[in-house]
Amino acid sequence: MLVDHFPLVGLRLTTPRLELRLPSLEELGALADLAADGVHDPDVMPFLVPWTDRPPDEIARSVVQHHWLRLGNWTPQDWSLNLAVFHAGVVIGQQTIGAHDLAITREVRTGSWLGRLYHGRGIGTEMRAAVLHLAFAELGAEEAVSGALEHNLASHAVSRKLGYEPDGIQHHAIRGVRTSERRLRLTRAAWEHRCAIPVTIDGLASCLPLFAADAA
Ligand SMILES: CC(C)(COP(=O)(O)OP(=O)(O)OC[C@H]1O[C@@H](n2cnc3c(N)ncnc32)[C@H](O)[C@@H]1OP(=O)(O)O)[C@@H](O)C(=O)NCCC(=O)NCCS
Repeated sequence: MLVDHFPLVGLRLTTPRLELRLPSLEELGALADLAADGVHDPDVMPFLVPWTDRPPDEIARSVVQHHWLRLGNWTPQDWSLNLAVFHAGVVIGQQTIGAHDLAITREVRTGSWLGRLYHGRGIGTEMRAAVLHLAFAELGAEEAVSGALEHNLASHAVSRKLGYEPDGIQHHAIRGVRTSERRLRLTRAAWEHRCAIPVTIDGLASCLPLFAADAA
């Protein structure tokens, strides 16, 4: 069975309202449709790589190809897990968690997006809390980093609610304009203090070698 060769397909994170897991092929298609329908106000780019500036069919294809790319080039030393987020059985967005040499760095990074219909209902906070639980409670992470462009107030609010602290500023050229990204960092102590959202994880044991978390 596929899960014997690639156990990540059996990994499932559950929160009160959400399920996070790898999508089936058809669910990946639905995730691509969702992205093509719009992830944010087109006038305001929230991403460092402006992948949503393309025509809808190219946005959709890029979601599919990026998903396969990160599964295909996965190594325990450098991995990035793009989890589809489901609410009431419907795919509503994507939550990413990744790391380099996790057993040594003990640091994970995250990124996320939701279909526009689903913004502003606390879902972004709940899905980030799910992967933070994976990182801190199960994979031995000591810190989680994130970042958001200065104008991305929703993303900053999510990070603030979860206990992240400012971690400096980095400048980028986005759409040809100098843009400030505020870096953010969450320590294990702050996570332990703030983590109030219950998270259940299934199918993790056989994935641990793939996360290189066994030494962590
Ligand atoms: C970022 C994102 C995932 C957050 O998800 P979400 O479900 O909307 O987030 P939540 O509802 O959990 O929390 C959003 C918070 O931002 C606040 N917020 C939203 N817009 C705001 C604004 N213009 N000014 C101030 N606060 C704002 C909300 O009030 C909420 O805080 P509260 O719960 O204290 O009221 C989602 O907005 C999204 O997909 N955005 C487009 C893609 C993106 O920006 N990805 C992240 C790139 S760094």
